[in-house]
Amino acid sequence: MYIETKKSTIADEHYAITARIESITYLMTTDRDASDRVASLLASFTNILRDHFDHEERIMADNKYDGYDAHRKHHAYLYSNLAHYTSCISAGLIPLSKETADTFRGWVNFHVSRFDLAFQEWHSAQTSP
Ligand SMILES: [Fe+2]
Ligand SMILES: [Fe+2]
Repeated sequence: MYIETKKSTIADEHYAITARIESITYLMTTDRDASDRVASLLASFTNILRDHFDHEERIMADNKYDGYDAHRKHHAYLYSNLAHYTSCISAGLIPLSKETADTFRGWVNFHVSRFDLAFQEWHSAQTSP
């Protein structure tokens, strides 16, 4: 289990984010003419991600996490990459394909495996007896 707050848990948010990634990548790989719909889904996904990043950063700051700066910088990198990627898809500059879907999924998965899991382990070590 991850960190709990009164509103939602980080784990709940990760679960919702993963579900969105799966539906967006499904559309990317099954309908090559869906650039407008994919761009719209990516725009709302980016907003959800921003709220999640804010939540995660608040918890890290509150817990004085020593990896906070690097983690926050990677959030900013991911956020700006997604915004640029979305505008390129919207403009038809990036074709929808399995490779496009893999790139999108890969960015988020890398962040989770490299940064989110490290914070989860650190936080668990702080709170275990
Ligand atoms: Fe994160
Ligand atoms: Fe996260």
